[in-house]
Amino acid sequence: MKPKVFVTRPLPPAVAKLVASKCDVSVHPEDGPMSPEQLAAACREVEGVLVVGASITEKVLRQASKLKIVANCGVGYDHIDVAACTARGIVVTNTPGVLTDTTADLAFALLMAAARRIAEGDRFVREGRWQGSKWELLWGRDIFGKTLGLYGFGRIGQAVARRACGFSMRILYHDQLRPPEAVERQLEAEYVDRESLLHESDFLSLHLPLTPETHHAIGAAELALMKPTALLINAARGQVVDEEALVQALQAKKIAGAGLDVFEHEPRVHPALLEMPNVVLMPHLGSATAETRFKMAMLAAENLLAALEGRRPPNVVNPEAYK
Ligand code: 8YV
Repeated sequence: MKPKVFVTRPLPPAVAKLVASKCDVSVHPEDGPMSPEQLAAACREVEGVLVVGASITEKVLRQASKLKIVANCGVGYDHIDVAACTARGIVVTNTPGVLTDTTADLAFALLMAAARRIAEGDRFVREGRWQGSKWELLWGRDIFGKTLGLYGFGRIGQAVARRACGFSMRILYHDQLRPPEAVERQLEAEYVDRESLLHESDFLSLHLPLTPETHHAIGAAELALMKPTALLINAARGQVVDEEALVQALQAKKIAGAGLDVFEHEPRVHPALLEMPNVVLMPHLGSATAETRFKMAMLAAENLLAALEGRRPPNVVNPEAYK
């Protein structure tokens, strides 16, 4: 008998076909969120769940007595109660690697859009406000030769550094873990302490996972250390930034602007941010390209199938579940 699995959103046809060839699959038919009750009911009888943007909480797990694998389609897994999974021997997997460059592209696009006022310029033209040349029209800030601060220097942070090399930027980073020296040398990235990073960056780009330690890593105190000309870029997780403190810092001109792909209470965006022309807003699209979303779905499916076939999935985030 094929194992029962549940998928929280429709998958690309080729991935859906692969999963259906080996599993008895039910799929939430809409590309939209599910209520916790719906999700708990859908997971009750299954051995595997492939999660796309749904929260796997203790409440869901309590009813899912047959569950063996939670295969997340995404690299961040802060929406999954990993400790509760581990306690029940449920394996959790994610999809690192395949979305690194795509997310770094988006972070760099936000940096460029905020620095060169791309969204503002687009609105200016569309709204018919461009009525002749003006010397001082929409002046932005240079990117080349400036200092880029990377808070978090894992896969995505390093990929952003690679892009910055092409812009002759000075690259600083801060992270708990330091990569091998060869990586620093190749990317010409310099490790600095947190305060120096905040103080010296013209662009501060966040690449931290969301954990209890990184929640509000950027708050009023950190924003106060930044240059008044600095731009904050966040394509990591919204809760890494205290959004209220960010709004206040922008209003008080403690920093000059921001490029944000993620928000503290998605999909709600702080109403003050919506009014600020110096803030570029995106609806959490870091990994959203056709190529990358396909690779993510395929990798999540491979993780799911491996666990259900008794093999060790390639991307286990809680190896303790095996002990
Ligand atoms: C996705 C992400 O939007 O990978 C992540 O951690 O935030 C994004 O790639 C998300 O996982 C979709 O479910």
